[in-house]
Amino acid sequence: MKHNPNKFPIVPLFCIFLLGPFVLCQLDYKFYDTTCPNLTKIVRYVVWSAIANDTRMAASLSRLHFHECIVNGCDGSLLLDDTSTFKGEKNAGGNRNSVRGYEVIDTIKANLEKACPSTVSCTDIVALAVREAVYLAGGPYWPLSLGRRDGVTASDKAAIEQIPSPFESLEKITAKFTSKGLDIKDVVVLSGAHTIGFAQCFTFKQRLFDFDGSGNPDPTLDASLLQNLQTMCPNQDNSDTNLAPLDPVTTTKFDNIYYKNLVNNSGLLQSDQALMGDNRTAAMVMNYSKYPFLFSKDFGESMVKLSNLGVLTGQDGEIRKNCRMVN
Ligand code: HEM
Ligand SMILES: *[C@@H]1O[C@H](CO)[C@@H](O)[C@H](O)[C@H]1NC(C)=O
Ligand SMILES: *[C@@H]1O[C@H](CO)[C@@H](O)[C@H](O)[C@H]1NC(C)=O
Ligand SMILES: *[C@@H]1O[C@H](CO)[C@@H](O)[C@H](O)[C@H]1NC(C)=O
Ligand SMILES: *[C@@H]1O[C@H](CO)[C@@H](O)[C@H](O)[C@H]1NC(C)=O
Ligand SMILES: *[C@@H]1O[C@H](CO)[C@@H](O)[C@H](O)[C@H]1NC(C)=O
Repeated sequence: MKHNPNKFPIVPLFCIFLLGPFVLCQLDYKFYDTTCPNLTKIVRYVVWSAIANDTRMAASLSRLHFHECIVNGCDGSLLLDDTSTFKGEKNAGGNRNSVRGYEVIDTIKANLEKACPSTVSCTDIVALAVREAVYLAGGPYWPLSLGRRDGVTASDKAAIEQIPSPFESLEKITAKFTSKGLDIKDVVVLSGAHTIGFAQCFTFKQRLFDFDGSGNPDPTLDASLLQNLQTMCPNQDNSDTNLAPLDPVTTTKFDNIYYKNLVNNSGLLQSDQALMGDNRTAAMVMNYSKYPFLFSKDFGESMVKLSNLGVLTGQDGEIRKNCRMVN
């Protein structure tokens, strides 16, 4: 009898079957190697095209990934559209009119559905896309294990509670990270993602005109940067959605200049500059400002931690056909 190589269903080697009903499922670097061999190529090409069209997209995908994973883990919940009967995370404060890049994920998904239908989860697509985006912007590349599955729920309440705000203290932001299994080093390292991209004026404007109700600018903000920002963000409501670069020195390059800016009192968000206001984090900032390779290495490691938060594996969740809705 002819040997049938497909006698077993094509389920990659990612589960360890224990006694009885106990199955231990994990992520795996080779998860899609046989089921979707062109996966990396497809993701890389779409991300490359999107950044070629709009350099800001590298930053936007990185923020999308952070907001995806920090709220109840990496389960693709942020990608779900609201419907008349379902209120998801897209329109929660912190995401609405702020997170960008959903169309890029849709394009990758559409291409993957042609190459390998119903195989690659939307949350794996996001994790893969941000890795390519950071790399294309000049940053590090990291080993990423795969096999995450998409959740079937989302929570706007969770998004509001769990996404850090730029107006919060370092202590509160750190608490949000540690409640997920990240630590204070991850706060410093992942904040380095602000080496690319833009922020709307309302996210830092109180630092320019009326810091903490003092009627004066934030004294920890460099004077010449203050002047530039006051020009970009005049003290009137209609400037709220104007954009300013998070790193004005190398805005589209993923490097360690973000940390040099903090040392120079040139952090844009209050939560950025706050990293210099605590002995522990300030020492790390100094470290990364001096050693770009140390930052690259640590950023890759922290991104892996972020990408593995609360993942669904095995039979949990599903593989969405369309990232905007559950099957
Ligand atoms: C530590 C707490 C953090 C706070 C308080 C924070 C806050 C913010 C704010 C207020 C903006 C501007 C949003 C807007 O104007 O619409 C922003 C942008 C951005 N954030 Fe964060 N962030 C944090 C951590 C992170 C992390 C961990 C990442 C990624 C790993 C990240 C990546 C980005 C990027 C790339 C942008 C620019 C996005 C674009 O240009 O489209 N942030 N962040
Ligand atoms: C992978 O892409 C190549 C072209 O780059 C194509 O020839 C091949 O058929 C694709 N393989 C699969 C399994 O889709
Ligand atoms: C190119 O980027 C612009 C935003 O800068 C966007 O409106 C447009 O849809 C993008 N086009 C493609 C083909 O991605
Ligand atoms: C930081 O300040 C120093 C001294 O004022 C200056 O030489 C350097 O260019 C600044 N670095 C950045 C990244 O602005
Ligand atoms: C933290 O730094 C301040 C000066 O900014 C210093 O007075 C204090 O002793 C330092 N604390 C620790 C624990 O190193
Ligand atoms: C600075 O980096 C070195 C690794 O090169 C590490 O051993 C040290 O603990 C770091 N210091 C801080 C304060 O993060």
